[in-house]
Amino acid sequence: MNYLERIQNTADFLKGKLDRLPKTGIVLGTGLGNLIERIQIDKVINYTDIPNFPVSTVEGHSGRLIFGTLGGKYVMAMQGRFHYYEGYEMRDVTFPIRVMKALGVKTLFVSNASGGMNPKFKIGDLMIITDHINLFPEHPLRGKNFDELGPRFPGMGHTYSERLIEKARQIGRENNIELQEGTYVGTQGPTFETPSEYRYFWRIGGDCVGMSTVPEVIVARHGDMEVFGISVITDMGNEGHIEKVSHEEVQKAAAAAEPKMTFIIERLIASFEEL
Ligand code: HPA
Repeated sequence: MNYLERIQNTADFLKGKLDRLPKTGIVLGTGLGNLIERIQIDKVINYTDIPNFPVSTVEGHSGRLIFGTLGGKYVMAMQGRFHYYEGYEMRDVTFPIRVMKALGVKTLFVSNASGGMNPKFKIGDLMIITDHINLFPEHPLRGKNFDELGPRFPGMGHTYSERLIEKARQIGRENNIELQEGTYVGTQGPTFETPSEYRYFWRIGGDCVGMSTVPEVIVARHGDMEVFGISVITDMGNEGHIEKVSHEEVQKAAAAAEPKMTFIIERLIASFEEL
């Protein structure tokens, strides 16, 4: 099977298990899987049971697709994503997004944990992603373009949905949830940054840095999906204040900030009739 056929094959498999199809997709980042508890679950399918799906390996990522109702809408959520640093090809990292699109998903919510460079940020902050800088060494759209999936040279000028950002700001204001905004730098990892790398990312215009999200967002935009991204600042890498960071600390800080993030996403989904 070629790439297109694999996408269709997986979408057909999932359609066979579902009584209805979601229009909204959610990708949950490191330590941010508890949003699932807010979903009235209809179906749970382990990645290991889904044909053509890569299998997640990292601690903190349980690896299942959840279908159910959130904010009054039928959604599908990825609990656990595929990271480039795990060794997957970019086409595999972004495969689930292609499958979402093939199922009819039109809006994608992505979350992640990241290290903050912006000195105004602190650990536990939420940052609405208003833009990104792609520093991955391989591009998810590299190679033959399937015109059925999207154009050869997609624009990235309006990557993060302005109407969803504006609504999120409003939800934050009305509920006393402080929301930062900024540019997410996507790097391959798996090393956290050296002090000079954090400084470099800040100087080129990044506010936070992480090891995910950018590939999925690019593919979603290639497929003309609407995208909202939110990042939990789990550690700080601004000049003079670089703390030692571990995966456990990232998970802990993400879990602590998660209820705020879940609230924002749920309210966003509830706010738009068509999601
Ligand atoms: N750097 C890269 N990825 C991360 C970080 C970081 O500081 N924190 C959480 N994910």
